[in-house]
Amino acid sequence: MNFIRVHSWLLTPEPRMKLTYFGHSCFLVETAAHRLLIDPFFAKNPHTPVRVSGIRCDYVLVSHGHDDHCEEAVELARANDGTIVSNYEIANRFEAQGAKTFGLNPGGAATLPFGRLKLTLAHHSSGFERPDATSLYLGAPCGLLLTADGKPLYHAGDTALFLDMQLIGRVGLDIALLPIGDRFTMGIEDAVASLDFLRPKLAIPMHYNSF
Ligand code: NI
Ligand code: MN
Repeated sequence: MNFIRVHSWLLTPEPRMKLTYFGHSCFLVETAAHRLLIDPFFAKNPHTPVRVSGIRCDYVLVSHGHDDHCEEAVELARANDGTIVSNYEIANRFEAQGAKTFGLNPGGAATLPFGRLKLTLAHHSSGFERPDATSLYLGAPCGLLLTADGKPLYHAGDTALFLDMQLIGRVGLDIALLPIGDRFTMGIEDAVASLDFLRPKLAIPMHYNSF
């Protein structure tokens, strides 16, 4: 099935904050001064005709090491002279491939030019599949808690439902981006249950009908 599902939401007019969805878990966040691409996935993404060469961004945020979340991260960062922000292991791997990176780890946050980013827990796996079917460990899978222009946005990455989501919800989320695809992540029922913990003003489902 080839759905084309590119949507944009103008979250606030002033200061301007805009969110664009390219399908799967791939989003562009535009703040007044910065463009952040979350979990780049274009060439193999059946939901978007957009190609990575058409994206302009200052930062590439990567939730975990599976290729449907970061296969084009290095290409994107290099083409834009941008910085990849991810966990420590992924940052090291992509830095070795010639990208500028900034690594942190779950529970840690950093204040960067676009705002504040905390990596949260995610219950999932995270590895690069080598051609021989062995897996290169790429650190803990994460969610991304981004606060830019005073608006907290949570991109859950690929995760199961977990009770500590209520700690993430305590910040008063404006937006939660939640996987609903089942099998590899939360399904719909668990994603709906997660809203009791996260209590966002707006929730957007992601990571479904891609494969
Ligand atoms: Ni994954
Ligand atoms: Mn995935």
